[in-house]
Amino acid sequence: MPEPQPRLQLFTGKGGVGKSTLVAAIACEAARRGKRPLIIELGHRATMGAIFEHAQIGSEPTEVAPGVHALNLQYEAALTRYVQRYLPVRGAAKWVLGNRALTRFMEAAPGVLETLTLNTIADWVEAKPGPDAYDPVLVDLDSTGHALMLLDLPSVLSGLIGRGPIRRLMRRVERLLSDAALCRLHLVTLPAKLPVDELVELHHRVADRGRPTIGNVWVNRMPKRPLAAESVELLGRFVGGMPAGVVQALDASRAHGAAVDQLSRLRAQLPAAVELPEFASVGPAELRALGRAASEAAQ
Ligand SMILES: Nc1ncnc2c1ncn2[C@@H]1O[C@H](COP(=O)(O)OP(=O)(O)O)[C@@H](O)[C@H]1O
Ligand SMILES: [Mg+2]
Repeated sequence: MPEPQPRLQLFTGKGGVGKSTLVAAIACEAARRGKRPLIIELGHRATMGAIFEHAQIGSEPTEVAPGVHALNLQYEAALTRYVQRYLPVRGAAKWVLGNRALTRFMEAAPGVLETLTLNTIADWVEAKPGPDAYDPVLVDLDSTGHALMLLDLPSVLSGLIGRGPIRRLMRRVERLLSDAALCRLHLVTLPAKLPVDELVELHHRVADRGRPTIGNVWVNRMPKRPLAAESVELLGRFVGGMPAGVVQALDASRAHGAAVDQLSRLRAQLPAAVELPEFASVGPAELRALGRAASEAAQ
């Protein structure tokens, strides 16, 4: 029987490698298997709306595909949510949020907004089990540098910030990120030289920190295996020249060879790297296929 998957699944990697697409695909597959996935995307560069063709993704879960919920978490919304919780007296929260000097201070204090964001994620992950609880919670983190900063904060800052509520939140977030039974960090890359180099570097950095536990290393957009280059050249000779179709087949064959080389280079260091197929374009059917491929390939 497969082991139960940790409830919180974080995804990071260089911009453009397919993180958001993979998160969406994994969510579709989880829903197909009868689970109740929640996608959390961070910040202003939201793409889930476009992926699911759903215009209204706000700070509360919305169903974006059958069984798949998504929300967009902005730092400011995390601050509001926290202040409203922490100061349940309505007038008081309103006063704090309306006090520009105070909110500016909160926004400028290093790490406070990030901690509040992680804390909001923790609320979803640690919600009471039940038919309305979400599992898995899939977080589409911003690109690598930002993700590392976000994940590092609780441990860096808990040494700096004295007592008080923010410190308690940091402890909570730190516990969640360090709990291998609850949290995995997935790394996503492409089969090309620079993305592979950056992925290996990122893997070292996360491994050095010792947390979160690394989930899968995903190599997205592996081209399909076309005709071998030699067969294409033979074919070219046979038809007496290089008509467009043959040139195209030759290009595809070379691109495939280059991707395979990069995948082997990555696997020389990280043998468990998992490959995912490239599609001509990504629509609902491809999302489902990608999700199935991911679930079959993952250990
Ligand atoms: N397996 C795939 N096959 C083909 N195109 C893909 C695949 N995965 C992602 N893409 C495309 O690559 C682009 C970047 O993907 P996206 O998920 O937005 O990346 P990221 O979130 O890492 O910035 C999008 O146009 C997406 O449709
Ligand atoms: Mg993205």
